[in-house]
Amino acid sequence: MEFSLIDGTLAELECDALIVGKYRGDMTLSAKDLCLASGGVLEKWFESGDASGCQGEAAIFRRVPGVKAERVVVVGLGKEKDGAQNFELAVKTALKAVYFAKKIVIVSDDWLGVDPVWAVEKTARFMVESFEKSEDWKSSHKVQWKQPDSIAVYVPEKTTEFEKAFSYGIALGKSMMMAKDLGNMPPNLCTPKFMAEKCISIGTQLNIDVTVFDEEALKKLKMGCLLGVSQGSAQPPRMVVMEYNGGEKDNPPICLIGKGLTFDSGGISLKPAKSMDEMKYDMSGAAAVVASIAAASALKMPLNIVAIIGCTENLPGGNAIKPGDILTSYSGKTVEVLNTDAEGRLVLCDLISYAIDKFKPATVIDTATLTGACMVALGKEYAGLFSNDEDLAYALLQCGQNSLDRCWRLPLCRNYAEALKTNFADIANIGGPFAGASTAAAFLKFFVGDDTSWAHLDIAGTAWNSEGKTKGSTGRPVPILVDYLRTRTA
Ligand code: BES
Ligand code: MN
Ligand code: ZN
Repeated sequence: MEFSLIDGTLAELECDALIVGKYRGDMTLSAKDLCLASGGVLEKWFESGDASGCQGEAAIFRRVPGVKAERVVVVGLGKEKDGAQNFELAVKTALKAVYFAKKIVIVSDDWLGVDPVWAVEKTARFMVESFEKSEDWKSSHKVQWKQPDSIAVYVPEKTTEFEKAFSYGIALGKSMMMAKDLGNMPPNLCTPKFMAEKCISIGTQLNIDVTVFDEEALKKLKMGCLLGVSQGSAQPPRMVVMEYNGGEKDNPPICLIGKGLTFDSGGISLKPAKSMDEMKYDMSGAAAVVASIAAASALKMPLNIVAIIGCTENLPGGNAIKPGDILTSYSGKTVEVLNTDAEGRLVLCDLISYAIDKFKPATVIDTATLTGACMVALGKEYAGLFSNDEDLAYALLQCGQNSLDRCWRLPLCRNYAEALKTNFADIANIGGPFAGASTAAAFLKFFVGDDTSWAHLDIAGTAWNSEGKTKGSTGRPVPILVDYLRTRTA
């Protein structure tokens, strides 16, 4: 499948599906162009109600006079005032409607009053998301996955700005697919060892230095919390450090840290059976940071980036950690495990301390499917954002909006840390029954301190769809992370 950016005269384009937009009432510039080229025929069809312009609609017109494309596909955009909100739906509807076509051209730069450069970037990304096949493990493929031979985004005139946006969108889409495929993988195949091997192969392809730390190496580093989580499992843990050096030699890196629980059963504090299968996506934070550093390298961003993931399973067993156990973290601080299901923060605290210690980063962003409480608070739309740095928080909120991978800031104040006090160690791994997403963030902050600019994205709700046919990984938060990296190149 070939993705490209093209220009030229609309009516002259040869393809089997030419996609343009239309509002309820008004036409877009490109729809008007085609009406003109058709000598008013297309307009008559519109007037007789053949393309109402309602949202979610795609009307197909074959052999429009004066138009070389075999079919013109007119996508309903609703009302113009709806703006960027509906852009994603409109493009995805359009691409669904042409699933049969071999050669597709989409004209979306004039939709819904959005910035044309933004439109091209998002369209490129949605093309990849819609047509690249996600991996599955079915033994026979009754329904063949249909892919066009070529799909092009049309712009009136190819400028370097459009070209940049297009390449960015394609690279981002591909990275999202990488994250999705990892999130969807069954946990018997996607083990910590597999994750590490995947990182090595990505590193080789994209010129990223990769260091894998196995159990022995983690013991040497004294990562007691990460090791504690893994000790109930037959699969040994891995920490992987990926370094991409596209920036000036002495520029401190941006550190991306991801939770990589390849399966979270809860451990001795066992989770209920319902939906436990979904806990294979508990490595989505790790998948996202790996995919993001891959995108940064593919786009040759002039930045230094370090991605660190902590991969392990969380299982019950004779060797597993127990409620009441006290672990000594990499930082030397001790943690009382009051609930073995609050394991993500145990993995992250060691990674965060290590990152700060080893790389003296300019910024640390960790991301994790950390708390059910965050999903309860924000649902599947917004990720939870926590930060000790106002500028960083604001920047990430903006990137979330721009990349359609939104987050909402949740509070992080000293009183949440009060809930983590214990008589027996420096900190406990759970707080009380309230504000679970904030107490989890407060736990992390205890290890970050105040001197490092840090943000935490809780993606428990946004990294996964649980509903029927859409059940599976979403590829989030790759868009917001890569968008943030891009802002740092400006
Ligand atoms: N991985 C889970 C959080 C989670 C829950 C992600 C549902 C996605 C969907 C995490 O390790 C966990 O179990 N958190 C506990 C924390 C609690 C014991 C304080 C939770 O949210 O219940
Ligand atoms: Mn858990
Ligand atoms: Zn977990």
